[in-house]
Amino acid sequence: LTAPITVLPVAASSHRYEIHIGRGLLERGGAILAPLLRRPRAVLVTDRTLAAGRHPARLGGALAAAGIRTETLVVPPGEGTKSMAELARLLDELLALGIDRNVTILAMGGGVVGDLAGFAAAVALRGLDLVQVPTTLLAQIDSSVGGKTGVNSAHGKNLIGAFHPPRCVLADLETLDDLPERELRAGYAELVKHAFIRDAELFAWLERHGAAVLAGNAARRAEAIHRSVAIKIAIVAADEHETTGERALLNFGHTFAHAYETIAGYGGTLLHGEAVSLGMVRAFELSVRLGHCAPADLARARRHLVAMGLPVSARTLRNDPFPPEAMLAVMARDKKVQDGRLTFVLSRGIGAAFVDSTVPIGALRDVLAGDG
Ligand SMILES: NC(=O)c1ccc[n+]([C@@H]2O[C@H](COP(=O)([O-])OP(=O)(O)OC[C@H]3O[C@@H](n4cnc5c(N)ncnc54)[C@H](O)[C@@H]3O)[C@@H](O)[C@H]2O)c1
Ligand SMILES: [Zn+2]
Repeated sequence: LTAPITVLPVAASSHRYEIHIGRGLLERGGAILAPLLRRPRAVLVTDRTLAAGRHPARLGGALAAAGIRTETLVVPPGEGTKSMAELARLLDELLALGIDRNVTILAMGGGVVGDLAGFAAAVALRGLDLVQVPTTLLAQIDSSVGGKTGVNSAHGKNLIGAFHPPRCVLADLETLDDLPERELRAGYAELVKHAFIRDAELFAWLERHGAAVLAGNAARRAEAIHRSVAIKIAIVAADEHETTGERALLNFGHTFAHAYETIAGYGGTLLHGEAVSLGMVRAFELSVRLGHCAPADLARARRHLVAMGLPVSARTLRNDPFPPEAMLAVMARDKKVQDGRLTFVLSRGIGAAFVDSTVPIGALRDVLAGDG
């Protein structure tokens, strides 16, 4: 008996590809990828954590059975790997393999590997085909879809990068069985973000079934992933290169999140999804303060994040948390300030995010000062 596998098509303006979701998917990787590869040669990029486990061999074995030769390159785990230094090292190792333009890069791992290896694929030999093989909840519902790749800079997150959509995404739900619980929760923050943006009904479903999703209930988890990734697909299809503003909605909570991450440093104090959880609560607070959102919706969002074990207050994270002025300084770098006004993704309530370019800096300062 083979487990059900679903295929979600992505059709953006410049490209189309399929997202395959299911258990036992890596074993079918040869059959799925063979027709897509220009030449039967691939380089699998993964991190040390995954390299020590069985997943690279699961996919490598399936590819070998389909006559596809795969070499493997390993990067260190963690956000620190999304750096120019690691990019340079990876590109060097890739070129040392004697690759040509018909080689396909397989990015197996979380968002860090997907973003780094994806960017390497975008620039190596002016562009190699890329297949995303996401192995974290966050990567399966968010970072593997939509084509954004890149690395961090000392000036902030994701400031160096490229749009480089994959030829295919293989999201094997089995890989989530090994994922540490803290990582699972962090990924859940981005999953619920899609509900906050435009699906109140999904949010209500998550209020009922979120605990089962985290606990590993296979049917609930598959449904949550499908519904969440479908929202991302729809938004990316509507605005692939973030030109009409629709795609900007996906940044809900992220201006705050990036500031938290930049101040915390990329050493694992604060996972990206945890920062997003904090950031979404700040975005709801700002929305309430500006009169766009009912306090009850903020309370409901906050309650659910707490129930899912996600942080909602930066104050509880460490002794010397995130001074409002330092947060403001980082956020101002991220934003164009015009006449003392900033652009933010705000909320009119659960399921109704919108972009507002008239946020007064004073309201932002108040929200940051009240973080708690
Ligand atoms: N490109 C995009 O559109 C986009 C969207 C959202 C987030 N991101 C980026 O994604 C990154 C975060 O991704 P992430 O949360 O997946 O973190 P991650 O890639 O650091 O992975 C988290 C940890 O889990 C480990 N891991 C991965 N898969 C595992 C598995 N199956 N079993 C056990 N351990 C496993 C990794 O080694 C790592 O230590 C951030 O850099 C963020 O900026 C990008
Ligand atoms: Zn994110």
